Amino acid sequence: MFSIIAAIGKNHELGRKNELIFHLKDDMKFFRDTTTGHKVVMGHKTWDSLPGKLKNRTNIVVSRHDVPEADQTITDLQSYIDKNKDADEEIFIIGGGTVYHQFLPYAKKLYLTEVDATEPQADTYFPDFDPNNYSRETIKAGTENELKYTINKYTRKD
Ligand SMILES: NC(=O)c1ccc[n+]([C@@H]2O[C@H](COP(=O)([O-])OP(=O)(O)OC[C@H]3O[C@@H](n4cnc5c(N)ncnc54)[C@H](OP(=O)(O)O)[C@@H]3O)[C@@H](O)[C@H]2O)c1
Repeated sequence: MFSIIAAIGKNHELGRKNELIFHLKDDMKFFRDTTTGHKVVMGHKTWDSLPGKLKNRTNIVVSRHDVPEADQTITDLQSYIDKNKDADEEIFIIGGGTVYHQFLPYAKKLYLTEVDATEPQADTYFPDFDPNNYSRETIKAGTENELKYTINKYTRKD
């Protein structure tokens, strides 16, 4: 099964110039704690934005071409989705925008750090979703560097 994990602004802002917009220690810790020991799937641009492999996780990159430094490359995304969407194993989809968009219809859970801020210069956005199709559980809420955030877990109802 697929779980999406992302940090988004009020207008679903995700990134700018291939970098993250929001830098919250609590969000980074939540991301690390939640994904450690699991498979993480990311788009090639997100992979390029990282300083290196995410430690203690299987790094899987979506690209039309083989990415030798990754643990695995997915070139046929639909086959990967069809093979894994009903598996017991929780596979984390960690971005960016194009990859969230393609996995959203299949993701059973969305772990969203919702930041109470906007970024007009954003160039990458999380896709729209209908919260009525999910049950929502708040995991944590707080303020860091004057930024208010809430970490919500959305579980698909069907
Ligand atoms: N806020 C957050 O939680 C968060 C999380 C992650 C990323 N981000 C941000 O998101 C931005 C990057 O997102 P992005 O949407 O521009 O790029 P992306 O989704 O990370 O990567 C796009 C690339 O993935 C590959 N790809 C996507 N779909 C594919 C498919 N069906 N088949 C084969 N390859 C496919 C292609 O790589 P090739 O060109 O190699 O074929 C494509 O160019 C950055 O600003 C990053 O910082 C934010």
